Amino acid sequence: MDATQDSGAQPRRRFLAEAAAGAVGACCVGVPLASGLVAWLDPLSKASGSGDWIQVASLSSVPTDGTPVRVTVVTGKSDAWTRDAAVPVGVVYLRRTAPAQVVALHSICPHAGCFVDYQTDRRAFFCPCHDSTFAVDGSINDPRSPSPRPMDTLSVEVRGEAVWLRFQNFRSGIPAKVALT
Ligand code: FES
Repeated sequence: MDATQDSGAQPRRRFLAEAAAGAVGACCVGVPLASGLVAWLDPLSKASGSGDWIQVASLSSVPTDGTPVRVTVVTGKSDAWTRDAAVPVGVVYLRRTAPAQVVALHSICPHAGCFVDYQTDRRAFFCPCHDSTFAVDGSINDPRSPSPRPMDTLSVEVRGEAVWLRFQNFRSGIPAKVALT
């Protein structure tokens, strides 16, 4: 190799080294920046309250005769724009099964995600979208109901006079109860 060839190789090597360093630097800065932007632009995804224990009602507000009461679940979780914002994340039915025992049923129909209504006169739950019906305990009470599973239950704790639950959403349209994350 003569001196002319060697002097041409040096700047090329320097250029390639600088280009590689630039690419690594862009990854180190760009990837965290992009994920931060996604979180900033989608604060509701961080305010879902999914899986958190949330105080939803007083025990005295749940009828002692086992009649379900509808409750909106509100989380005080912070998001990217506000701190401790009260955000409604879902609706559940609470039902007392013993003096200090409460069960919670998710109001979303496991068939295709419509809102399930409680009909006091029939003492049963009814989904108007495709006529799924559920007994007061959430079980399927009509074999013609298209719902692939009973209404979804949620974990509940009675802490003194307060009812707490661990709110989650579940995948619809399948027989298994699978929590969405
Ligand atoms: S969504 Fe409830 S029956 Fe179809």
